[in-house]
Amino acid sequence: MKLAPQATPVVKMVELIMPQDANNFGTLFGGKLLEFIDKCAAITAFRYTGTQVVTASFERIDFLEAIHIADIIELTGRIIFTGKTSLVIIVDVYRQKGNGPLTKATSGYTVFVAVDAKGNPIPVPPLAVNTPEEKKLWERGRELKEHIKQRAEKDKSI
Ligand SMILES: CC(C)(COP(=O)(O)OP(=O)(O)OC[C@H]1O[C@@H](n2cnc3c(N)ncnc32)[C@H](O)[C@@H]1OP(=O)(O)O)[C@@H](O)C(=O)NCCC(=O)NCCS
Repeated sequence: MKLAPQATPVVKMVELIMPQDANNFGTLFGGKLLEFIDKCAAITAFRYTGTQVVTASFERIDFLEAIHIADIIELTGRIIFTGKTSLVIIVDVYRQKGNGPLTKATSGYTVFVAVDAKGNPIPVPPLAVNTPEEKKLWERGRELKEHIKQRAEKDKSI
């Protein structure tokens, strides 16, 4: 059965940074931020496919701004590319200090794969891509998938 194109859900997740989320410098531990990004991306993927999903890959993440205890972070997840069974998801992370403005702290790209009850990949609906921004992001996602494929081939030969 051919699946109909779908628009991406936009998932917003808000977190308050607590002392247990911090490193020895009082700033958010990098691994904790990866957890938040993974969670936001997983919800985005699940809302899109309506099936079980697993994280297949985490792409490069640059930590542009330190996030401190008591800061609020807002994560926004959306699908930017779909393959046959995989989804590329961008999660933008914004930081708010006190009552101040939201500033971009980082963006993370992840790849999720839709799976059945046995963990086997299953088809995902194709993403509806209409606006110039959606087309630009689609191209970014396509490049990323290609990069991951080439990297896997290189690693196999080592
Ligand atoms: C992700 C997983 C389901 C892929 O299974 P597989 O048998 O390798 O599947 P295939 O080779 O048929 O690839 C299926 C899709 O996944 C993509 N894929 C597989 N490994 C990938 C990786 N490391 N990074 C990005 N995409 C990947 C393929 O490109 C393909 O995409 P497409 O169908 O859109 O073209 C499997 O490797 C797995 O279960 N990994 C562990 C997941 C996990 O435990 N995550 C952490 C907890 S959620």
